[in-house]
Amino acid sequence: MEILKTLEFSTWNPALQSDEAKDYTHALESGQLALLPHLCFELEASERHLLSPKWSDGKAKNISYDPQTKMVKHTSATGADMEAIGRMMGRYADSAHQLVENLFPAYAKGLVWGRTSYRPVEAEGRPSSVRKDDSLLHVDSFAATPVQGARILRIFSNINPDGKPREWTIGEPFDNLAPRFLPKIPKPVPGSSWLLKTLGITKGKRTAYDHYMLQLHDLEKLDSHFQQTCPKTAVSLPSGSTWIVYTDLVPHAVKSGQYCLEQTFYLPVEAMQEPKLSPLKKLEKLVGRKLV
Ligand code: SIN
Ligand code: FE
Repeated sequence: MEILKTLEFSTWNPALQSDEAKDYTHALESGQLALLPHLCFELEASERHLLSPKWSDGKAKNISYDPQTKMVKHTSATGADMEAIGRMMGRYADSAHQLVENLFPAYAKGLVWGRTSYRPVEAEGRPSSVRKDDSLLHVDSFAATPVQGARILRIFSNINPDGKPREWTIGEPFDNLAPRFLPKIPKPVPGSSWLLKTLGITKGKRTAYDHYMLQLHDLEKLDSHFQQTCPKTAVSLPSGSTWIVYTDLVPHAVKSGQYCLEQTFYLPVEAMQEPKLSPLKKLEKLVGRKLV
């Protein structure tokens, strides 16, 4: 399977034939990264000054925006600058939503909003703990935010003004990865999900699915021999481009790049065109039981 599915559209609301949409949906669900090399997220003149690492709070990896409450977090900006960041990120959230609805119309009813992020800091050489280090190959799973089986669909745009690409690495498919690490994952401890929620460590119940995905994420990052020797492919994501990928399915790592916007959506497995391609169904098959 090719890693990239290149789409030539240059608008956020492309008009598609229904068989075309089915084809793109199948590519995405199969683990291809949909790259739109000509779909650029344009900043307004009054937003150019937002292209600086100084707007990061220096602690969190990203500036974060909630499209529902319109709240901006993890930025040093205040007042009018903070408002401008919020407006830019809100516009990005709406553009990403439009794009997903147009490319994958079957998802429109099931899509759940996640956060928007702005990544103004150079990704190369960023200090981090191993578990939080996104320069190591991983599938996405969030310790504090259980997804309970839902898919993690992410839209990224490289808005670097100097033509600098964002360099990613893509690892081997989930079907190879999961059986490799699964034997090393202990079974979830009975009662632990209730305890995590009650203590306020997780925002919802950590299901057995979340347990396996989080362990997969951690074990993959912690295995330095695996990181060095596993099959991987470098993918260069040009400035002025946009890409869409199921980051819970496709092992990825960011090697370098600066100034990126990202929108997360969650999608229930039942809203997929082919639910059997989800990590949930794949893991359930491997462990031989229901995980949510
Ligand atoms: C990640 O989602 O692991 C990081 C991707 C990026 O910042 O390019
Ligand atoms: Fe990731």
